[in-house]
Amino acid sequence: MTLLEIETLKTYYHTETGDVHAVDGVSLSLSRNETLGLVGESGSGKTTIAESINRILPENGEVVDGSIVYDGVNLTELSEKELQKYRWNDVSLIPQSAMNAFDPVYTIEEQIVEVIRAHRPDTSKAEARERAQELFEFVDLDPERVTDYPHQFSGGMKQRAAIAIALALDPPILLADEPTTALDVIIQDQILERIKDLQAEINSAMIMITHDISVVSETCDEIAVVYGGRIVEYTDTETVINEPHHPYTMGLRNAFPSIAEGDQELISIPGSPPELVNPEEGCRFADRCPFAEEECYEKTPQPREVAEGHVVECHRADEAEELRPEANKKEAWTEERPKDAAAGQEGYSND
Ligand SMILES: Nc1ncnc2c1ncn2[C@@H]1O[C@H](COP(=O)(O)OP(=O)(O)OP(=O)(O)O)[C@@H](O)[C@H]1O
Ligand code: SF4
Ligand SMILES: [Mg+2]
Repeated sequence: MTLLEIETLKTYYHTETGDVHAVDGVSLSLSRNETLGLVGESGSGKTTIAESINRILPENGEVVDGSIVYDGVNLTELSEKELQKYRWNDVSLIPQSAMNAFDPVYTIEEQIVEVIRAHRPDTSKAEARERAQELFEFVDLDPERVTDYPHQFSGGMKQRAAIAIALALDPPILLADEPTTALDVIIQDQILERIKDLQAEINSAMIMITHDISVVSETCDEIAVVYGGRIVEYTDTETVINEPHHPYTMGLRNAFPSIAEGDQELISIPGSPPELVNPEEGCRFADRCPFAEEECYEKTPQPREVAEGHVVECHRADEAEELRPEANKKEAWTEERPKDAAAGQEGYSND
């Protein structure tokens, strides 16, 4: 059953130079108990999607179009006050930086108690404190440390505490925004495991956000690949990993050791992300795509189902079988393309 349905969401940041189209027509859906991975490089709009859902965008950010329907309610139409009921209780966010998860002037316990009592006023302070300790145990933190201030915690401990507070009310939806990026590899694995266990325990659905396709390939049922504010490919994990239809997904796969095929050399995608201030018509990946054709520069590809439940935004999606072996070759990504030469563009070295 669908729990969250996002349709053609557009979230822009208003700036002096124009509107940054950080999320520009994104549609996705999340079922009960499902884990969806949002994967894409820095600046592609992942955090903006998450912050649009429970509307905690920076001041210059605005949801300008589309709908976010949670359990039959369109969250984009709710007032700030109405929306507060849903934050933490229904949709909870583990923020990208655990630094932002806590107010430095209150102890962690005070903050967890506050979240619990704001949504469940019948809970006594003693009960809420007990719950805070239980949550600390859940995330493998010493319950006695719950009365510490955020600055008394290391980065890894703060990250665990951020997970604890996000789980305080057993939310049906958990948004985990790069929950482990700042941590070392061993702790990363432990925390990912813990999030998965807890998710199973409280039966929540999760959107896991990361730039690392190998993380989502291990954790998620479905993957949405985000590029330049759009979802360029979206289907079940196995298909994304084994039969990608979008050249960007093919490129992402090459860059991660546990995903790249056999002993294949790792290849990064040269170039940089697209300009999102009032973007022009055309495929946003065209400047970096080895398979770009004339049409790609002229017409924005629209989402299209190439198989049931497999949505791709690429003019050449039907040629995926032929393009895939080409995309595994380093030359495909490093060769200068005719259009670049004509435009005198640079930036295609493979650093
Ligand atoms: N407050 C802001 N004002 C203007 N532009 C912004 C603002 N916040 C984000 N952006 C821009 O919006 C785009 C999407 O940013 P977002 O943080 O959602 O990306 P992300 O995929 O989460 O990146 P990362 O992997 O680095 O966390 C980027 O181009 C970013 O520069
Ligand atoms: S539409 Fe064209 S440029 Fe864009 S990903 Fe597909 S082939 Fe590449
Ligand atoms: Mg982010």
